[in-house]
Amino acid sequence: MRLKEGAVEFFIPELPDLISKDMEVFYNPFMAINRDFTVLILKAYSKLKAKKLFIADPMSASGVRVLRLLEETDAVEKAFLNDIKKEAIELAQKNLEGHQNVEYFNKDANVFLLENKGFDYIDIDPYGSPVPFLESAIKSLKTGGLIGITATDTASLSGSYPFKAFRRYGSKPLDSEFYHESALRILIKSVIEASFRLDSVLKPVFGFSYRHFLRAFFIKLKGVSKAVDISTKIGYIGYCHSCKFRANYTCILDLPKFCPLCGDFFDYGGPLYIGPIYDNELLNIMKDEDFTYFHKDTIKVFNSILKESSIKSPWFYKANIFGKGIMPKLKDILKDLKATPTHFSPEGFKTDVPFTYVKEYFEKWA
Ligand SMILES: C[S@@+](CC[C@H](N)C(=O)[O-])C[C@H]1O[C@@H](n2cnc3c(N)ncnc32)[C@H](O)[C@@H]1O
Ligand SMILES: [Zn+2]
Repeated sequence: MRLKEGAVEFFIPELPDLISKDMEVFYNPFMAINRDFTVLILKAYSKLKAKKLFIADPMSASGVRVLRLLEETDAVEKAFLNDIKKEAIELAQKNLEGHQNVEYFNKDANVFLLENKGFDYIDIDPYGSPVPFLESAIKSLKTGGLIGITATDTASLSGSYPFKAFRRYGSKPLDSEFYHESALRILIKSVIEASFRLDSVLKPVFGFSYRHFLRAFFIKLKGVSKAVDISTKIGYIGYCHSCKFRANYTCILDLPKFCPLCGDFFDYGGPLYIGPIYDNELLNIMKDEDFTYFHKDTIKVFNSILKESSIKSPWFYKANIFGKGIMPKLKDILKDLKATPTHFSPEGFKTDVPFTYVKEYFEKWA
């Protein structure tokens, strides 16, 4: 069947009601937002670098992502597509017919990445966790290159399967109203850690959570001197389930056992990345790009990110955690608490004003 996404048309064998790995060639229409952001950031990154890019899509499925990059941007010098499934790569070849600057491979993604090094952009979009592909992707990425990483095992990262999260990502998820953000920050931490192990440094430059997936982009820095700076941004978030107090700690030994505010049990999540997720230079270029072919949710998420990127705190709040009374409207909260909306949740807001100020504000209403 023929489908449309962004500015392109392409073929897939079938689109069942239930999207699953069992499809002959995988295609998920909800991931259009994921691909929109790939288009958007590649346009901006290619402008920032003032060059066209050698890009790799090691799990390309139908090839729709590269097709969009080729047709919606001027960013691509040459594209390398790979999928372990023969049917997928054959379909990608058909979908990209007419494009000369493309090479196709039918290998395991790790083998493909290690045999073809030196990419300016790599897209990691597996079923579930990206962890098994991180090392080869980091090795295969050029210094200064950009990498986009998707995780769809959000249930583990968000805390539904804490042991699975610990096994895969080496972190304890945090059960809180801002679990989506902690999940993204655990993913970011594990990518940074993987880069440290390989004596390189991946710096986060963009990220978001949407429906069932998380997405984060990183630039591979030159030299390892920045590793120290980034390692100081890996830490823990302490959280009180009673009074909702939360705070950052860079060393686990500093985490109090009891809430510094109310004395109740003090829970924690981490290690996770507690530094800035967004690169302002890239954001500034991205905001001036053409959004015509993007899904309305892509535009909504991006506009929210433009605002929330100014906030340093690695969490957000929801008014209803402070009580069941009638709470002020979000637009008043934003004004009164110097807050911004957050793409992580429609009722959420981010602010850097002290926790006690936020709590007292809501106690008047609770
Ligand atoms: C989530 S889909 C990718 C979707 C695609 N990137 C898109 O935007 O439409 C995952 C793909 O990875 C492929 N795959 C799974 N394991 C792989 C491996 N070890 N090496 C290479 N490809 C793999 C699957 O055949 C499937 O096509
Ligand atoms: Zn407390």
